[in-house]
Amino acid sequence: MANLDSIVSLCKRRGFIFPGSDVYGGFAGTWDFGPLGVMLKKNIIDTWWNYWVDKRDDIYGVDADIIMNPRTWLASGHTTTFADPLIECKACHGRFRADKLAQGLNEHVTDNEFTRLHIKCPTCGQEAWGPIRMFNMMFKTHVGPVDGNESIAYLRPETAQGIFVNYRNVIDSCYPDIPFGIAQQGKAFRNEISPRDFILRDRECTQMEIEYFVHPDTWETEFEELLKETDIFLEKEMGLSVEKINHVEVPEKDRAHYSKRTIDFMFQYPNGEEELMGLAYRTDFDLRNIEHESGKSMEYRNKVTGESFVPHVIEPSIGVERLFLAVISDNWDEEKGILHLPENLAPYKFCVSPLLKNKPELVKKAEEVYKLLKNKYTFVTWDDSGNIGKRYRKQDEIGTPKCIVIDFNTLEDGTVTVRNRDTAEQIRVKPEEL
Ligand code: GAP
Repeated sequence: MANLDSIVSLCKRRGFIFPGSDVYGGFAGTWDFGPLGVMLKKNIIDTWWNYWVDKRDDIYGVDADIIMNPRTWLASGHTTTFADPLIECKACHGRFRADKLAQGLNEHVTDNEFTRLHIKCPTCGQEAWGPIRMFNMMFKTHVGPVDGNESIAYLRPETAQGIFVNYRNVIDSCYPDIPFGIAQQGKAFRNEISPRDFILRDRECTQMEIEYFVHPDTWETEFEELLKETDIFLEKEMGLSVEKINHVEVPEKDRAHYSKRTIDFMFQYPNGEEELMGLAYRTDFDLRNIEHESGKSMEYRNKVTGESFVPHVIEPSIGVERLFLAVISDNWDEEKGILHLPENLAPYKFCVSPLLKNKPELVKKAEEVYKLLKNKYTFVTWDDSGNIGKRYRKQDEIGTPKCIVIDFNTLEDGTVTVRNRDTAEQIRVKPEEL
């Protein structure tokens, strides 16, 4: 398994991910995607959308605003319950998430439980803790030119609520048969107390979520169905190693306030097993609360039976950054310096080079091949720097599955060398056959 430092270094060296606001020394919990990172991230996002929305008839897309009416967060419970236990060291004034300072603690840890463990401050080594306070993780902002309490709004902490507030609009405009889903991809913001492990826990992340609306009597079957589909997505579309994914049934005391059943998909990351995504049964919690807050009915009327009811919801929710880190760490061979990305996710599908850059006849032919492939596949790169060995090493590091080299034989028989990233095998083919 690759170690996290080598992945952070690969990501910076090859333009996948940079520390946020790097030129000013960074900004905790923020990361910027570079030219190659954007391509890999986009491939992940597009593949998810294609798999869950484009290829299915029962899931509709929305793209809601990040800043929503603050009543959204009253109804969803985030204003009161979206909080982590914060503890401060009175000696060095370091602030930490109390439940992350020792094994076996959860978000509801009490002062007594914490004190009994005689935990030392990770920064100064003292045991001088203040009381545990619940710290709300929503980022506040002000909307409009007034700065008072009445102008407070929040950056959304989950994309899910952008779906729930549009549930009625989707029904009234698209008339879906139940069960049906609404999907959204977009930014979510959390003022994490301790962002950590590279892009695993960020203050700004990108979520891909589906709220799948079902008849209350069928939630168990639909839950199992979505569980199966999610496994297929992670294994077949993202190419993740099955043995690194572990389904964990979340006990009641650890579940989010809205959930009656949650399965966490844990992944074996370089720093140990961590949550990659969750599948939650949110019951009718959100739609009922919206009904209460807005005074509008959230009932669905079955077109065939005429039955009216408030649907229950199953939610597969995944963060792009966690998926990105899973994909890159699962595929990075540190010893050989090869990023074995699945072809559908690799930023570039081909790299084209002339064997020697000082031979105009090779360069001219290579440019022709480059144009041919670029027109056909778009994601094709050109490299005539250094010697051919160096070029292969660079392309291996960024996960380009195939390198095409134009040499003197090309001028005679029209064939080019195709080198396979994973096996280093080389074959000769005509470029038109690629
Ligand atoms: N709508 C449900 C929801 O937001 P969550 O378990 O809080 O549930 C869902 O978040 C997923 O979003 C997580 O499994 C993870 O993939 C991603 N995620 C959440 N917080 C994150 C953070 N601070 N940094 C990166 N990804 C995060």
